[in-house]
Order: sequence, then structure tokens, then C-alpha cells
Amino acid sequence: MVDTQDNRVLVVGATGQLGGVITSKLSAAGVPVRALARRRDKLEALAAPGVELAAIDLLDLAKLTEACRGISQIIATANNNMGKGATSPMRVDLAGYQNLCAAVRNTGVRRLLYVSFRGASPHGPVDIFRLKWHIEDVIRRSGVPHVILRPTAFMDVWIDQLIADGIRKKGVAMLFGDGTGVANYIAVEDVAEFAVKILGRDDVVNEIVDLGGPSDISYNDLTTLIERRLGAPGKRRHMPVVALKLLPPLIKPFNEVAARMVSLGYFAATLSRPFPEWKVSADRFGVAPRTVEQYVNALPR
Ligand SMILES: NC(=O)c1ccc[n+]([C@@H]2O[C@H](COP(=O)([O-])OP(=O)(O)OC[C@H]3O[C@@H](n4cnc5c(N)ncnc54)[C@H](OP(=O)(O)O)[C@@H]3O)[C@@H](O)[C@H]2O)c1
Repeated sequence: MVDTQDNRVLVVGATGQLGGVITSKLSAAGVPVRALARRRDKLEALAAPGVELAAIDLLDLAKLTEACRGISQIIATANNNMGKGATSPMRVDLAGYQNLCAAVRNTGVRRLLYVSFRGASPHGPVDIFRLKWHIEDVIRRSGVPHVILRPTAFMDVWIDQLIADGIRKKGVAMLFGDGTGVANYIAVEDVAEFAVKILGRDDVVNEIVDLGGPSDISYNDLTTLIERRLGAPGKRRHMPVVALKLLPPLIKPFNEVAARMVSLGYFAATLSRPFPEWKVSADRFGVAPRTVEQYVNALPR
């Protein structure tokens, strides 16, 4: 666990799914936290003893630099994957992380942890996969001591918000392609556990840490598990791969977010991405990530 003395952690993206859990875990462990995001109303929900709130935009270098003063380490999860126009990830995220690196250098923060994605690549099939790689590159080139965390797909998003929610609301599971694509999943709670463990390990520096869970499973098999848990009749709709491939450039001029989501669907439908090496980080950091079955069996009906 993180040593609490002179060890305030700045959580950048603290109101997000992952940032919120990291903030709660650090705070529960008695670690002083500065929680940063743009919207003050959402930050208020994180108010707790030992948690300072900083309603600051990563694009505001002066305020960001102030927010980095007195900080020992940073864990950054901020992103605008669901943004468009003025808050498009293409406009905000790279510049935001350039600012963060400058602020870190100017204030002597010891280490920056950045949550990327296991599919980050300069040639990735989705704009945000390429963007994440470029953010990683900015961090690597900045000279700032860092750790890049690359988790696989979040269970909370792909299982609960995408498949289960469709079944709960419409009685139908919406699948990308024929459903045979295999993916590896990790719960947000377990990614947060890894982040907290790594914050407590000074020996981890200037490296990429891949994170995943024990389950490599196809969409069809995953959907069967979810349908059983929710007592659903098993109605499924498959979005054809050809539509997932052709639609994004047509939709993009009107709806950047929808185009991005369809590209993600194309990626999910066409690229199997098991992660048999998930145990390396689990053993190294003493985290036991849950299986897909454990996650699904705890889903609200
Ligand atoms: N979904 C998956 O399957 C998956 C898998 C692997 C990795 N990941 C990655 O994990 C990371 C965390 O995801 P998440 O779901 O926790 O994200 P999220 O819920 O969308 O949270 C984003 C956070 O960033 C903040 N933020 C955005 N722009 C900001 C700015 N300019 N200045 C300050 N704060 C800003 C947001 O608050 P405000 O809007 O109030 O500023 C919010 O707190 C992401 O990078 C995601 O791509 C996701």
C-alpha cells in the first residue's frame, strides 16, 4: 500500500469510472488525494476527509501547474473518448497530456502513471487507439519518470453497459459481427487495485505494464452467460461486419462519437485479442483479477 507521509497523489480524471474508484481506494487507505477533473459538480461527490477537489482543465497549463504543486505522484485516467467538437479527444487529449508533462517537470512530481489501452498503436484501427499511443509517446519523450498501464476491455463497459443494459432495457443483446471474436476482460475495480499497488512500488518506472483478467471469451459465450444471469429469452441482433466497416466515414461528418463507436464495433468484431499472459502482472503485483463469470454473477438483474 502507498506510504501516506508526504505522498499526496493527484488523480487526473477523478470523476471518471476508473478515476472515481482509484480516488475512493486511495482515500480509504488514508492516502491524501487531490482529485482533478473539469466539472466541479461531479467532483463534489468525491468530497471526503483527505480529498482535495481541483476543478481544472488539462488545457489550462497555469492552473494545472498549481495543481501539481505538493504532489508526489500522479495517476492519470482523463480522456474524452465520448467527446466531439470542442471536446473531441483529437483536440483535447494530446495537448492536455503535453501540458501535464510540462507541469510535472516544473513541479518535481516523482512519477506519472498513465492509463492507456492494450490496443494502443500508431497504426490502430480506431482513432483513439492511435491517439493513446501518441499520448504514451509524449510521456515517454518528456523525460518524466512514468508507468504506462495498458488494460484490456473493461467489464463494466463491454459487459454491463453494452450487452447487459441492452438486454435489460430492450430484451435484446446487440452483438458486433457474428459474435465469434474473443476478447480479454478486466473489471474497473481490478484496474484500480493494480494502480494503487503500482503507486506503492517505486521500483516500477519507465515501463509499460499490461493488465488483464483470467477470462478470454467470445461475445457469443459471454452473451450466453449474461442472458442466463438476467433470465433473458436469448434474442440477439448481430451488426454485420460490412456495415461496421463502411459506416464510420459516412457518419463522421455528422456524428464523430457514433463513428468512433462503430469503428470500435468493427475492431471488436474482426480482431480476436486474447491475453494469456494476464497472470504476469497479477503475480507481480499481488492482484487477483476477477473472472467474467464472477463479474456476470454479480450483475444487477
Ligand atoms: N472502456 C474500456 O474498455 C477501456 C479499456 C482499457 C482502457 N480504457 C481507458 O481507461 C481510461 C479511463 O477510462 P474511464 O472509463 O474511467 O474514463 P471516463 O469515465 O470517461 O472519465 C474521464 C475523466 O477524465 C476527465 N477529463 C476529461 N478531459 C479532461 C480535461 N481536459 N481536464 C480535466 N479532466 C478531464 C473527466 O471529467 P470532466 O469531464 O469533468 O473533465 C472524467 O473525470 C481511458 O483512457 C480509457 O480509454 C478503457
